[in-house]
Amino acid sequence: MKSTLKRGIEVLQDPTVNKSTAFTEAEKQELGLIGLVPDGSETEDLQLQRVLLQLGQKNTDLERYIYLVNLLDHNETLFYRTVMSDPARFLPIVYDPTIGEACLKFGHIYRHPRGMYLSMIRRGKVKDVLKNWPQKDVRFICVTDGGRILGLGDLGANGMGIPIGKLQLYTACGGVPPQYLLPMYLDAGTNNEQYLHDPLYLGMRKSRPSTEELYSFVDEFVEAVQELFPKCCIHFEDWTGADAVHLLQRYRNKYCVYNDDVQGTAGIVLAGMINAARIKGAKLSAEKYLFLGAGSAGIGLADLICSAMVQEGLSPAEAQSRVYMFDINGLLEDTRTDLFDFQKPYAHKHAPTRDFVATIESIKPTTIIGVSTVGGAFNQKVVETMARINSRPVIFALSNPTDRAECTAEQAYTWSNGKAIYAAGIQFPPVHFNGQTFLPGQANNFYVFPAIGLAVFATQAARVTDEMFIEAARAVADQVPSELLKQGLLFPLQSNILESEIQTAARVAKLVFDSGLARVDRPPDMVAFIRRHLYKPEYVSAAVPTNKAA
Ligand code: NAI
Repeated sequence: MKSTLKRGIEVLQDPTVNKSTAFTEAEKQELGLIGLVPDGSETEDLQLQRVLLQLGQKNTDLERYIYLVNLLDHNETLFYRTVMSDPARFLPIVYDPTIGEACLKFGHIYRHPRGMYLSMIRRGKVKDVLKNWPQKDVRFICVTDGGRILGLGDLGANGMGIPIGKLQLYTACGGVPPQYLLPMYLDAGTNNEQYLHDPLYLGMRKSRPSTEELYSFVDEFVEAVQELFPKCCIHFEDWTGADAVHLLQRYRNKYCVYNDDVQGTAGIVLAGMINAARIKGAKLSAEKYLFLGAGSAGIGLADLICSAMVQEGLSPAEAQSRVYMFDINGLLEDTRTDLFDFQKPYAHKHAPTRDFVATIESIKPTTIIGVSTVGGAFNQKVVETMARINSRPVIFALSNPTDRAECTAEQAYTWSNGKAIYAAGIQFPPVHFNGQTFLPGQANNFYVFPAIGLAVFATQAARVTDEMFIEAARAVADQVPSELLKQGLLFPLQSNILESEIQTAARVAKLVFDSGLARVDRPPDMVAFIRRHLYKPEYVSAAVPTNKAA
């Protein structure tokens, strides 16, 4: 048996080596644990039974979330064993939609440090701060400034729940070993008055700086990461729309970075659109798209759909001409003077209008996509109009959390008289209407970014490209069985998510090798290669950190 430097109580206090009631007699002897844990040695399955029993006694998902986070603080293997034992049940607790409530209350439910807090008062010293992280081989940093958390707006430091949760999904969904993951909150203050006055708020009590100051701080952070963690991919998450797009443009051709709101959302929604087009027997390039919301998610998706249409044979200008956008100030059209550079390709010649239904009547889209953060924005009139114009209207209501969805699944199917092909950003239950059962899909990024992560991890890819997200979208779309497609399901079943991510990661990894971006040798069998890198939520026979990558 290998030995660990830690002994006795220190072993039990380290969640990466702690097995709690599962140490063998020999391990107890060797590690000085006799008497510190009950005699006898439980199996992981028995431990899981106890966790499930205790979870069953909690009354709300937030309580279950707090329980699971606490479990992670004590026993990492058992936490992942629990979540991975039933992803469809546990993902909504560790991430959407519970994570929204957890973030809103982050400062109040805070129990234990996790990840890093890097505030602007550390300007000039960022590298020194990053050196405090105990792991020296960091492969992914998920970083937010809390600027736009889900559809909840500026939550400042309360947004830290997002990088923590997102990185848990790298492991729980994509099998990326947890020791390589670093959640990061980049504290640039907040404009959220409620939190600024909350004594339990954990961030800097300052309003947000100018864009210039913020970007120069992010520059220092990104450059320090390159020096300290040269194999690291930086995943930007939940920044405001303009910052998300601009920071991605700033670094994407220079470093290994991506933005999940921009590219991951686009990838999973593209997967849904590929399957919506399959149901209709059409091509992506035959559709006409109208977005409600032209922020980071909307723009990322519009750009990726255009790239996919170009792959189908359209010119970039033809592809862009099939995409319209409508934001808080109305339709994006060529007389608007308030648009960002990245929105202008979608501002076509059209009379100004702030009326969304009139815009549908005028443009006649086949697909509407809600990324507006405005719950209920796809009202009965909107859905009925889409159903009048189209035999199978495609309606994606992607804003989250739940109360921000532009329309519910039930509304979409009922108001369209069962004609809608629907997906949401959150999981709605099956809908029974007119003797039919509809399976609303959840366009959840967790089908895509953990697979991208797994592929990047295994190949040590030097860059993350849009083509990788398009390939991931096609791979995800290809995994939906035709009998489920017929019931309107656009995405694979969540119960089998790890296998789905492995297949997707293998296709993305192949593209990474084909594009010359890999920094390891090409393997003969891509799926076997991906499997070799997987984390398994199992104890190893010595109390040393488990699950080192192959
Ligand atoms: P953002 O803040 O960058 O953009 C929001 C956009 O909505 C802006 O263009 C704004 O002008 C527009 N908008 C706001 N109020 C409006 C109104 N009353 N009418 C028309 N347009 C309005 O936010 P981002 O990052 O684009 O995210 C938008 C939503 O999409 C969020 O709720 C987010 O949670 C959700 N989302 C869903 C994902 C998924 O389902 N996989 C992934 C990423 C984001």
